[in-house]
Amino acid sequence: MSPSEYLEQNKALYEAQLTDFLSIGSISIDPACAEDVKRCATWLADHLTSIGLPTVKIYPTPGHPIVYAEDLSAGESAPTVMLYGHYDVQPTDPLNLWTNPPFEPVVRDGKIYARGATDDKGQVFLHVKAIEAIYKTHGKLPINIKLLIEGEEEIGSPNLAPFVRENAELLKCNAVLVSDTSMFAPGEPSIVYGLRGLAYMEINVQGPNRDLHSGSYGGAVQNPLNALATIISKLKDEYGHIMVEGFYDDVLALTEQERADLAALGHSDQRLKQDVNVDTLFGEEGYSSIERLGARPTLDVNGFLGGFTGEGAKTVLPARAMAKVSMRLVPHQRHDDIANKFINYVKSITPPGVTVDITDLHGADPVLVNRDSPAMHAAVKALEETFGTKCRFTREGGSIPVVLIFDQVLGVPTVLMGFGLDNENAHSPDEHFDLGNFHTGMKAAARYYELVAEMVPA
Ligand code: BES
Ligand code: MN
Ligand code: MN
Repeated sequence: MSPSEYLEQNKALYEAQLTDFLSIGSISIDPACAEDVKRCATWLADHLTSIGLPTVKIYPTPGHPIVYAEDLSAGESAPTVMLYGHYDVQPTDPLNLWTNPPFEPVVRDGKIYARGATDDKGQVFLHVKAIEAIYKTHGKLPINIKLLIEGEEEIGSPNLAPFVRENAELLKCNAVLVSDTSMFAPGEPSIVYGLRGLAYMEINVQGPNRDLHSGSYGGAVQNPLNALATIISKLKDEYGHIMVEGFYDDVLALTEQERADLAALGHSDQRLKQDVNVDTLFGEEGYSSIERLGARPTLDVNGFLGGFTGEGAKTVLPARAMAKVSMRLVPHQRHDDIANKFINYVKSITPPGVTVDITDLHGADPVLVNRDSPAMHAAVKALEETFGTKCRFTREGGSIPVVLIFDQVLGVPTVLMGFGLDNENAHSPDEHFDLGNFHTGMKAAARYYELVAEMVPA
């Protein structure tokens, strides 16, 4: 029996097991969930042991644990692939907008609904099952495999980055594989060759020492919310151009060839508008949507806090205001450098009468991967054979902080072979994962491991 036939026979079982995995509320940012995050790591480690991986370890960190497993029994003549993914998930708020509770998975219309379904538990789990199918049908793997599944991706991988640097020998491999990205469109298998970076900032504005009566003091004392609005209004102009000084200094321009390649993907603005229900799109002038999404940097306010927001009217001049602002970065911008530029710029535009405090919450450096490595060719072949259609090359707007670190520390190509879809509500209520892609993804993964054995030198 082939791995693919074996996978076909076990669909129902694998969906049931995925349901168990998704039932654990491994929200990395919420201190109240720390025990659940730990339980999820243990669940995953136990599962990896149960499918037959000879070495499975849980590495504690100052934050959440790292799950690591390996099977090196293919020997030195075979290549080694390291699979990276994350078992942590985003918070669930706003909870009232979920049709079903986020950690009680349900299947509707061929999709499984739960927090983490597409990002990234479903995508991690399909690899686990692909490996199991190879064990069950061939008795052993054609390659050496290392699995590195972390619990802190959604908070910027603060402990994985040093772990990778300190354990370069342990993680030595010929290629890294990541399934934590989206396909260009349903039915169109895709490889992502670029990820944006991130600089996520918090701005705190402090005005008077207490909330003031807006009649007694308004007009003579600076209002922190007005001041913050002024600051925000100067971050980006009406043409979508970011005004932070020096922001574009290191931006790698798109080549004509790349612009042509991206245009040829046939991205539909109409579909994008329908997907998010807006009548006009907005972005940096002079660029198409697909370029704006993957290859151009951007800046967005993620949240505002301040003042009176209860029912009715209360006349008050608030003492404080806060905003969270994220910037998506592209090569060769650097998270640290952009964070500094942002801090200096915001200080320079802060109106008088308030003090401002700016914190760099977390970030990631952007990355472009080699499109021409043998590991990449194996992935393209596996996807095209399994999906029966041409593979697309795209750049994604999201970030995976550790990918650049793999590149720097391990010096091997990373393949981003994702099976999610952009409209599967990652980070949002009613997150789901298409079960068709779950099952086809498993077959593609199993085929990838076979092809790597033939195509990637050890
Ligand atoms: N899987 C995503 C990254 C992603 C999103 C890739 C969309 C491709 C398309 C990942 O889990 C994620 O959400 N990353 C965060 C990074 C962070 C919290 C440092 C992101 O992009 O916001
Ligand atoms: Mn993810
Ligand atoms: Mn995510």
